[in-house]
Amino acid sequence: MQIKIAPSILAADFSAVGDAVKAAERGGADLIHCDVMDGSFVHPITFGAQMVESIRPLTRLPLDCHLMVEHPKTQVKQFVDAGADIITVHYEACRKISSAYLAETLELIKSFGVRCGVAVNPNVPAERVFNLFTVVDTIIFMSVYPGYGGQKFMPGTYEQLKKARAYAIEAGRPDLDISVDGGVTLENCKAIREAGANVLVAGSAVYRSPDPSKAIAELRR
Ligand code: DX5
Ligand code: ZN
Repeated sequence: MQIKIAPSILAADFSAVGDAVKAAERGGADLIHCDVMDGSFVHPITFGAQMVESIRPLTRLPLDCHLMVEHPKTQVKQFVDAGADIITVHYEACRKISSAYLAETLELIKSFGVRCGVAVNPNVPAERVFNLFTVVDTIIFMSVYPGYGGQKFMPGTYEQLKKARAYAIEAGRPDLDISVDGGVTLENCKAIREAGANVLVAGSAVYRSPDPSKAIAELRR
């Protein structure tokens, strides 16, 4: 399984986001993770599609847009137009609208030829999204409650990952990108990978480190 490192620009200096993106690419990152927060689904507001559009010309890496927003379907087109390569929406934000909303949103993303994902909060059992394993390109298991970088990894995530990877294999999707987001460090990255994740989102571990390139290489090792 190919390991992918996805530095989150949430932890970068917002006055120099472009430099942070270029540093990630130089350091061997596989994706640029963009944490979009709307001040409603989660309390903080970070940035929207305009940021994605601005960084698009600066890197050849895929832009992995994690939408922590209410009514994500209404945002899809803007992020597609801005140059997103992967759009991930939250299970919880979709479920509270209707039982069909999540599937409709994923279909809309795919209709633009963009990869789609679903993110689930730590309190959602992995089984709840097993039916999506043949539909999406990526599943993000949140290892913290979304909203803030720099939180502590919740150990219950290991069990989620084990169940998810076992089911992905059973469902004929051994290649499914299973992503972990929140509190990933140089200390826990090995255990996270062994549990079944192949995409590591890392904000603080990369951008709060004195040497982001080295941190990316170490997370991969
Ligand atoms: C949390 C975000 C994460 C966050 C991770 O709401 O979705 O992507 O940036 O940051 P660290 O790696 O600092 O926990
Ligand atoms: Zn994220």
